[in-house]
Amino acid sequence: MLRDRWPTRLTFLFAAVTSAIGLGAVWRFPYLTYKYGGGAFLLPYLIALVVAGIPLLILEFALGQKLQKGAVDALASIKRKFSFIGWWALFIGFIVISYYSVVMGWSIIYFFASIGTQWGDDPKAYFFNNVLQLSDSINHIGSVTAIVFIALVVGWIGLYFSVWKGTKSVSKVVNFTTPFALVLFLVMLVRAVTLEGSMEGMAYYLKPNFSALLDAEVWIAAFSQIFFQLSVGFGVMIAYASFNDRKEDISKNAVVVGVATVIFSILAGVIIFGTLGFMASSQNVPIDKVVASGPGLAFVVFPKALSLMPFASFFSMLFFLILVTIAYDSAFSLVEAIDTVMVEKTKMKREVIALIVCIFGLFSGIVFTTNAGLYFLDVIDHFVNSYSLVAVGILECIAVGWFLGAGKLRVYINKVSDIKIGKWWEYSIKYTVPIILSIAIIAQLMKELKSPYEGYPQWAIWLGWIAAVIAPFAIAFLIPQKNVQKRQ
Ligand code: PHE
Repeated sequence: MLRDRWPTRLTFLFAAVTSAIGLGAVWRFPYLTYKYGGGAFLLPYLIALVVAGIPLLILEFALGQKLQKGAVDALASIKRKFSFIGWWALFIGFIVISYYSVVMGWSIIYFFASIGTQWGDDPKAYFFNNVLQLSDSINHIGSVTAIVFIALVVGWIGLYFSVWKGTKSVSKVVNFTTPFALVLFLVMLVRAVTLEGSMEGMAYYLKPNFSALLDAEVWIAAFSQIFFQLSVGFGVMIAYASFNDRKEDISKNAVVVGVATVIFSILAGVIIFGTLGFMASSQNVPIDKVVASGPGLAFVVFPKALSLMPFASFFSMLFFLILVTIAYDSAFSLVEAIDTVMVEKTKMKREVIALIVCIFGLFSGIVFTTNAGLYFLDVIDHFVNSYSLVAVGILECIAVGWFLGAGKLRVYINKVSDIKIGKWWEYSIKYTVPIILSIAIIAQLMKELKSPYEGYPQWAIWLGWIAAVIAPFAIAFLIPQKNVQKRQ
């Protein structure tokens, strides 16, 4: 069977960059930045990019491209037992896609609600009462919220038709959506920075509060945010790179993807905070009175700011169209990572596998469409990103650094790449990254044991552990390791 191929190098870059740039940049990054001391967060964030993000991206690109396999078989060809790392990556990808698609669903709802800015004067009530119909605590699950569920179904239909023909359909989608989203983004950026008061907003955003750097949590958040954003640790970049020719450049591609993602995220912050600065000045209140931390930033505070602008409906639609488009490209990259492995494992047709994965994805997302959906999302997102994702990162480093041989992989990378990477990369993969990530996990764990995440009840914390860490790990470990093709 011939392996799927990207039609051009640019298409591969589009696919990888749009997988990386997603809700992580526009929804998660700004609220983390706000939560962790404004501009001070940028420093750990950039350090995380250089120290762990790009080295791991290089690793995943190299692994997929050299071995021409999806995550499971690629890791299994290093050592049979390591297939569980690949499975673990895929399972956490599956958990992420199940809630990520729900947030994409909210964005779809908001795109339509932008016509006539339907959230009116009270976007908070609109988001929590009309859209989410959120209950008062995670203990009250209630029922499925029809509108969110419908948006979720619509989203999944779109996702199915982007991945059903593998790279062929994905290429068509990314070749259109990448330039499209970029143009919309630039329009929004120009609008945001030319608003009155935007400078105060940006100053607030970029002004570093260095004392935040002393808090271990800030560093952990920065590292897991970089992983989440660069889509490493999910098998996505391994799958995408496996559709490249073996001679394709690696390190330059990794730098392009890493740098593009970070620039985009910082500019997304400029849009968000510039606009919030405008809102603060037009309401004559200090900026810290208008910002909110958490998921509400993009769906509560921002819509409010949008509705104060001239041509409010137009700019609201623009903003949510950007959100839908970038969420969509990231979401199907996760589906594609799973499909790639399942096609290799079952030899079934891609169309059929994709359909099965999409149906499962839709069903597992239902819990996030209930009245307590946002609480579940918050808990699961926390556990996946703080533990599972970081653990997979560590294991990938160990598998490659100590068993495949980082030196051997570096020789291959340098043979095909313009930017030659030095021995530092081997040290990073063997020592620096796993050590830093282990410290991060332990520090986070200690904090967790002291006080349960966001004060959720004990059962919810257990659910987080089980759904995001224990179950994926256990399932991955229990899958029999036979049927691994010989290394080529
Ligand atoms: N990188 C995406 C984002 O920032 C999310 C994502 C994670 C996509 C993992 C694919 C795999 O939104």
